[in-house]
Amino acid sequence: RLARTLTPAALALALLAGCTGGGGGGGGGGVQGREGGAGVGDRLFPRLGNGGYDVRHYRLALEYDPRRRHIEGTAEILARATAGLGSFHLDLDRLTVSEVTVDGAPATARRSGDELIVRPRAPLGEGALFRTVVRYSGTPRALTDADGSREGWLTDPRAGALAVGEPAGSMTWFPGNHHPVDKASQELTVTVPRGLKAVSNGVLARETTRGARTTFVWRSPEPMATYLATLAIGPYALTRSRTGTGLPLVTAVAPAADRAATRRLSARIPAFLSWAERVFGPYPFAAAGAIVVPDDMVGYALETQSRPVFPVGDYTPLTVVHELAHQWYGDSVTPRSWRDIWLNEGFATYAEWLWAEENEGVPVRRSFDKAFADRANWAFPPAEPPSAARLFDAPVYGRGAMVLHRVRRAVGDAVFFRVLRGWAAEHRHGNASTEDFTAYAERAAGRSLDAVWDVWLYGAERPADAD
Ligand code: ARG
Ligand code: ZN
Repeated sequence: RLARTLTPAALALALLAGCTGGGGGGGGGGVQGREGGAGVGDRLFPRLGNGGYDVRHYRLALEYDPRRRHIEGTAEILARATAGLGSFHLDLDRLTVSEVTVDGAPATARRSGDELIVRPRAPLGEGALFRTVVRYSGTPRALTDADGSREGWLTDPRAGALAVGEPAGSMTWFPGNHHPVDKASQELTVTVPRGLKAVSNGVLARETTRGARTTFVWRSPEPMATYLATLAIGPYALTRSRTGTGLPLVTAVAPAADRAATRRLSARIPAFLSWAERVFGPYPFAAAGAIVVPDDMVGYALETQSRPVFPVGDYTPLTVVHELAHQWYGDSVTPRSWRDIWLNEGFATYAEWLWAEENEGVPVRRSFDKAFADRANWAFPPAEPPSAARLFDAPVYGRGAMVLHRVRRAVGDAVFFRVLRGWAAEHRHGNASTEDFTAYAERAAGRSLDAVWDVWLYGAERPADAD
């Protein structure tokens, strides 16, 4: 299934954001078509994503010069207009745009902060499929998030460049609709100096060397939220093999990493995958693997689609289980808005608890009790992160996992594990919200679970005890 359209409510909010958010220009609909809008109406990130269209496919071509840290890029974006559009926005940080065409005709483009506002020669009709081509260049930069962590285009003297984009970093290296609600398949062609590797999501379709340069083509046939796109360029050791079920497995290890230890863990990925398939259902993507980078390059592991990124010190069984679980919960079933992030982190944390029980002799109940006792988990309800700065705080992880454990206690193991798998199947390759989850769990339980949601998902206070 390809990317989904915005809900009418999200579109309305997006249009509102376009009128009030400094996007400017545009008429109020009619034959000229309206202004697409500078956001999709995400309360935590008002300017992320854009209204008025739905991307179906990104076709990106990049050339990277590591010495100058310079990219030359062409982004071809195939999208469907969800309203008549006189103009529309793309999210893009800083880089210089030299040319924009829509359906082959030159379009005008202007910048407003990290918005690129494109006005096609003629308005686009509602429902029209259209192809935007953006030629751009420059030195992509790293962003500092609201929580102080770094994302975007990260560089390291030994390991080269690494693009990671949760929540907003992908706009540093390609123009797009950078909100998780708009998922699209992707093809990325990267040309680098001979001797370096370029590793991205999905399947390696081609690697060719001509003269002093090597070109890699990576394909992600399933829809992907842009925050899950990654690209690592450097002197990586690339290993290509297949899992027991025939899935292509690609691991890339940066030179600074401990090769022997990383190899041992990489060899266990097929076993982790089959454990995860047993618990969560069929693996949702056409390829798997890992990208292992030096610790000082990025301060966290990230579930980039089909090929998660690990700082080498964090390349451990529990973190592998966490990022693998995200392939189902986060990457295939993607939050509708950033507020729903506990659907990623709570599930991935609960996966760690399940794995530790089976493999490390730590009962789930003990993980639950530890999380319950930790004051940090009670700073806010997991379904209501108060700001972008708190998106990855303890309650989203620990209390998110507690919510799942309380559902399990309320409905019993048989129904609970059916919910875990069924939830991944129901929204496979789509988007879902907290309310979708509570409704889904209640349907499976055959009754209201308000007693769980009121206390564990939305409640302000820690209950006196856990029983
Ligand atoms: N999703 C990542 C994980 O697996 C964490 C990302 C943190 N990003 C950030 N900007 N703080 O837990
Ligand atoms: Zn996570």
